[in-house]
Amino acid sequence: MLPEADTAEIVFGPLRCTKCHASFPVAEGVVDLVVEREAPSGLQRGLERPWVARSYERYLRPAVTLALSRRRFDRESEYLLYRSLLGTPTAPVLDLCCGTALFARRLAREPNMPTVIALDVSKAMIEEAVAQAREANATVDFVRAEAPLLPFADEALGAILQAGSLHFIADADRLFGEIARVLRPGGRYVATSYLPPRFGAGLHHRAGLYPRSEAELRGALTDVGLVGFERMVMPPFLLVKAEKPRRERHTVH
Ligand SMILES: C[S@@+](CC[C@H](N)C(=O)[O-])C[C@H]1O[C@@H](n2cnc3c(N)ncnc32)[C@H](O)[C@@H]1O
Repeated sequence: MLPEADTAEIVFGPLRCTKCHASFPVAEGVVDLVVEREAPSGLQRGLERPWVARSYERYLRPAVTLALSRRRFDRESEYLLYRSLLGTPTAPVLDLCCGTALFARRLAREPNMPTVIALDVSKAMIEEAVAQAREANATVDFVRAEAPLLPFADEALGAILQAGSLHFIADADRLFGEIARVLRPGGRYVATSYLPPRFGAGLHHRAGLYPRSEAELRGALTDVGLVGFERMVMPPFLLVKAEKPRRERHTVH
């Protein structure tokens, strides 16, 4: 993907795909790669409403977390847990399905952090995320795109955080294939989902939610070649971590 004009920083003006020549708008620094998509349904439809995006971080997220886990898990503790698992990235870090990009903003404040990119499919969430990043003076690059496809070159990313949103992805196998492709060797993937309910999985699917068990996630992440699977169960949430294997060093004698 290249800018149509010869410029180092793109604030307005399209990006053009060097392969298919399709053009994608950039407005106020946000590149929008969602050209055509099915109308959102289930819970996602709500997450695309501006008033939901505006109240998400302050009211909705804390209320949902408290209701589901029945305990307060303060945001800084949650961030520190993710941060400790992401390692020391040496290439851009992606906040995948970022919502209002609360964790991208926090990552961007870390010293020696490479570029932080925040990606979400919801226009309303991205708009709110941009406004909050501006207010916090945080330097974050925003992309509107729809997972499971990830619009990054092979081995371009140093780490990927997908907080509270793995269960929104219907095709996790495809997403994990993309994660294995775009991560650099040694790059880590950290995600949270919620555990499948004992009954009524169909209802969750109808709401556009796909909770998965530890065994399913471990199997799917291993199948795409990621290693070092670890997990933490914080009912009803499940945190998983895996990483792209480092290349073996061959010494010549
Ligand atoms: C519950 S919010 C989580 C946001 C944030 N990561 C957090 O921890 O608060 C889920 C987010 O995932 C986004 N999302 C859902 N499906 C997506 C997809 N296929 N591609 C990109 N973003 C998606 C939604 O728009 C929403 O902003």
